[in-house]
This record gives sequence, C-alpha cells and structure tokens, in this order.
Amino acid sequence: MENFHELIMRRRSIRKYTEEEIPAEDVKLILEAALVAPTSKNSRPRYFVTVEDKKMLEELSKCKEFGAGSIAKSSLSIVVLVDPTMSEAWVEDASVAATFIQLQAEALGLGSCWVQVRGRMRNDEESADDYVKALLNIPADMVVECIISLGQKGEERKPFNPEKMLWERVHIGEWRPQE
Ligand SMILES: Cc1cc2nc3c(=O)[nH]c(=O)nc-3n(C[C@H](O)[C@H](O)[C@H](O)COP(=O)(O)O)c2cc1C
Repeated sequence: MENFHELIMRRRSIRKYTEEEIPAEDVKLILEAALVAPTSKNSRPRYFVTVEDKKMLEELSKCKEFGAGSIAKSSLSIVVLVDPTMSEAWVEDASVAATFIQLQAEALGLGSCWVQVRGRMRNDEESADDYVKALLNIPADMVVECIISLGQKGEERKPFNPEKMLWERVHIGEWRPQE
C-alpha cells in the first residue's frame, strides 16, 4: 500500500472527469469502503444508491442551484443516505462513509467530489433532499446526506499546501487563547 499520508495530501476535490468508465472491480472496492466505514454503536444506518445512467446523473445535478455540477460530469455518483431513526449519530455515520468512499477513490487514482444535499434547498419551495428522494424512489423518511460524484480525473489539482494547514487550531494540553 502506498503511504497513507501522501494519499491524503494528494486528495483534492475533482469536479471534472473524462468519459472513461470506472472498472466494475473499482466500483466494488469503493462500495466495500462505504460498507465497512465505522458507525456509532455499529448501527450502520446508512444506505447507498449508485447511479451511472447519464440522464439520471444530469437530473441529480439539478438538486441545487450551485455546487452540484460535478454529478452531471461524473461516470458514477453515489447517493449517501441514512435512516435517522436507527442512530442519533446519523450525520456522522453518513459522513464517515462518504469520506471512506472519497479516500478509496483516491487510492484507486480516481477523482471525487462531495456534493452536500442535507440542509440545502433546490429552490424556495423544495429541498435538495426531497428532490433527490423523488427522483430515485427513496422513502420519504430517509435523509440524503450527500452525493459523491466519481470518475477518472479530468483535471489536475495540486496536492494540499502544508503551509495552509492552520496549525494554530491545534492546542496542546489545554486551550490557550491566541494573542
Ligand atoms: C461537508 C462537505 C460539503 C461539501 N459540499 C460541496 C458541494 O456541495 N459542492 C462541491 O462542489 N464541493 C463540496 N465540497 C467540497 C469542498 O468544497 C472541498 O472539500 C473544499 O473546498 C476543500 O477542497 P479540497 O477537497 O480540494 O481539498 C464539500 C465538502 C464537504 C466536506
């Protein structure tokens, strides 16, 4: 395995993808990463809907006015949703799974981007969550946390700049107010 630290420094949000498909074995590894992600009390309240159909990807990219365009360009998007009655830590449970998806994708050399759905509006009347659920026949009592768009990288991004790490956010031993 490659150095994990190098992997997390190299991972950046990728919003443009080539037309090349993601091999089925890579899709399986990505879904395994989602399914083994840890959850509070091992409640595993999260569900995943994979979408590869171009027309549906286009429709999903309209879930909000800004920030969802990468879905239409992706060759695969994974909708990460939860049953909130299964765990009081459902936001965290969904988020950890989404993060595992992104890290596994990076390890496979693929690009990905998190598209936030929970708490976002599509327009004045409709939430992004309701719109996505209606499109994909997802039961109304589920919550869509996010959609992870994925594909072969169609843009190059520089690795994370270590100078931008905000080390001042780390307090050693106790909280020390900053001058
Ligand atoms: C909770 C969360 C929500 C995000 N929502 C969106 C989004 O809706 N659309 C988008 O293009 N990127 C979204 N991103 C990606 C962030 O913009 C990106 O991670 C951040 O700017 C840092 O850039 P990097 O991932 O390239 O290091 C989101 C990331 C997180 C963790």
